[in-house]
Amino acid sequence: MLKDKKIAVAVTGSIAAYRAADICRSLVKGGASVTVLMTRAAQHFIGPTTFAGLTGRQPVTDLFASGFAHLEAVKNADILLIAPATANIIAKLAAGIADDIVTTAVLAADCPVLICPAMNEKMWLAKATRQNLKTITALGYEVIGPTLGDLSCGDVGWGRLEETERIVAVVTNRIQRAGRLKDKKLLVTAGPTREYLDPVRFISNPSSGKMGYAIAEEAARRGGETILISGPTALTPRRDLEFVPIVSAAELNEAVQSYFDRVDAVVMTAAVADHRFAQRSVEKIAKEHFPDEFKLVKNPDILAQLGALKNGRVLVGFAAQTEGLSDHGREKLTAKNLDLLVAVKVGFNEGFDRDEIDAVLIDKNGEEPLGLTGKKELAMIILDRLSLFFTTPPTFANLKDG
Ligand code: CTP
Repeated sequence: MLKDKKIAVAVTGSIAAYRAADICRSLVKGGASVTVLMTRAAQHFIGPTTFAGLTGRQPVTDLFASGFAHLEAVKNADILLIAPATANIIAKLAAGIADDIVTTAVLAADCPVLICPAMNEKMWLAKATRQNLKTITALGYEVIGPTLGDLSCGDVGWGRLEETERIVAVVTNRIQRAGRLKDKKLLVTAGPTREYLDPVRFISNPSSGKMGYAIAEEAARRGGETILISGPTALTPRRDLEFVPIVSAAELNEAVQSYFDRVDAVVMTAAVADHRFAQRSVEKIAKEHFPDEFKLVKNPDILAQLGALKNGRVLVGFAAQTEGLSDHGREKLTAKNLDLLVAVKVGFNEGFDRDEIDAVLIDKNGEEPLGLTGKKELAMIILDRLSLFFTTPPTFANLKDG
């Protein structure tokens, strides 16, 4: 699986450092050539000789050992894995600090960076760590774990290094997926639109943007040139995305039209308001003048317009439904001339602004109910399927085989 793949494993100063030996052993067993980088603190917990024996290569421990040790360590690497990653290394990465062999190598890495935190639960939950994790995620680093369990300090809680098997599975998966969207341009829309009545009132919906941002980020991770057009959300877009903020459906429509000719695929996760006010007031309407009724006009169905133009592009739509996911989803797949439709279940306490969503994938060959699925995982599943449209149109049968 990992034959001919180059993996850099950075070990930092956590008591879980001993488990990095097992991770390296598994990666080497899978066929990878592994280069280990160690911070000074890591060497208090485990010696370089262990890794030299397991990987057949002397670990890189000193930034000044040779001219460009940090660059050499990650040159042509398929992945850089930091396991275990301490709260300190996470903070340094969030700030862009480069003062040792690991932090300099991360900044020099031209490959996906996976981070496996391990620390005491209080440190994991500390506000500064939470903030730093948000920042490193926005910077495009992927965080795996930690898990809940026995901690080395004797406590039980969150902060245990993810299991070796899962880390190796994620590394293998990311290497296989990396570059699948290289040379492709993707347009992703996300979040709600707002249709203003006056400067203080609008029609909107509870979309958080989480689904669309997860798709855009994963597309960029896979090498796709990705444009993210987003309505107002509380999320920070990754810096390697071309980011286009919009507010109303009309603005979204305009932005989508302006990019459509340049892209190979469009994923419309935006929750577009179907109507806007016939009239918009520039001044705030005082309550004594507030009308009992409003005239609404229809917004254009942006995705249906794209479906009519299509011209070889792959189109993925979403359908937020409270019931009848399959039936309504299939109708929309056909009506909007889509390649793939993701029907998702929404309700008052369901779907919107959650990290998980109940989804059914529908294409012209059939459908696959996924059940409650993490939005990040769903993003991966959608992009796996989307990539196949660039080669042969997928069927549910050949996806299962592959
Ligand atoms: N969509 C769009 N433009 C609109 C409304 C929706 O491009 N004006 C897109 C959404 O981004 C999503 C899909 O169409 O990909 C969702 O359609 P949905 O809102 O479920 O369908 P509607 O056409 O609004 O149908 P209904 O409200 O009747 O369910």
